[in-house]
Amino acid sequence: MSSDNVKVAILGFGTVGQGFFELFNSKKKSLALDNVSISEIVDLKYGHIVNPQDDLISNLKPVEDGSKIDVLDIIQKSDADIVCEFTWVNFKDGEPGVSHIRKALTTGKDVITTNKGPIALFYNELKELADKNGRNLRIKGTVMAGTPSFNVMDLLPGSEVKSVRGIFNGTTNFILSRLDAGENFDKALQEAQSKGYAEADPTNDVDGYDAGAKVAILSSLFGWKRTFSDVRIEGIRSLKDSRDRKGYKLIGYADKNDAYVRPVKLDETDLLYHVTGVTNAIQFDTDTLGEVTVAGPGAGRVETAQAALTDLVDIIGK
Ligand code: HSE
Repeated sequence: MSSDNVKVAILGFGTVGQGFFELFNSKKKSLALDNVSISEIVDLKYGHIVNPQDDLISNLKPVEDGSKIDVLDIIQKSDADIVCEFTWVNFKDGEPGVSHIRKALTTGKDVITTNKGPIALFYNELKELADKNGRNLRIKGTVMAGTPSFNVMDLLPGSEVKSVRGIFNGTTNFILSRLDAGENFDKALQEAQSKGYAEADPTNDVDGYDAGAKVAILSSLFGWKRTFSDVRIEGIRSLKDSRDRKGYKLIGYADKNDAYVRPVKLDETDLLYHVTGVTNAIQFDTDTLGEVTVAGPGAGRVETAQAALTDLVDIIGK
């Protein structure tokens, strides 16, 4: 990016937006990002905040008429170079995130998003729009938060991915680990919710939609073109009252012919068998290295903020 001063706008100032704001401010110096500033924040609860101070979060106050904010108009008029889209996930039509992303890309901004809804549903269209407008669209946070996932392949030039397989949802992996230890399904789900792993609507976790969205995103990224509705999705409810609960993982898989999410019973020889609790993991079957596996957190405030920071540094370094 050639501009000396880079302005970043944040859309959505919930857990991810605030986490990113804090992480950016705390790492700015060590990353030599002194020419980069967060120039505005838009949130239906907190309003339109221009040139926020570093101590913003401790002084945040809800506004009265937030629902009247015209986010698309703000994006249109914004002089930001990069828009970070952190609004809520919607797997039905991707709104409002998808409209925010389209507006940003067509009004001269690069986009960073952690929002799985628009990307699982519309990645190919949005990538085309970004390319047509000469903009970057960065989506690291949509798969395994800041833990290296699909971007690991940037370190392996020329290597071809034949298939990808993994544990892409922390909530269900946490529940399945608890079931394996003989505990109760509902109690484990409640615990996952209280620890903040589960989605606002835990159906998206338990019934496999969150993992399915990540499989759709991976399929698109590797050129296999399965969108969200093409992914065969089965969640973990069938294990709730099952007597056989040992060794199950909610496995997501994609290759050029297939894309699915379903509970699979693994044995100890499988690396993924050993990925327990809220941890996620991804395995690439490659032509040059065979199987490459990465494991780490797939959710959380700082963990997801790390993904957006990775994307920001990547765009600025271009
Ligand atoms: N609810 C998700 C999970 C969050 O449990 O993994 C990250 O997508």
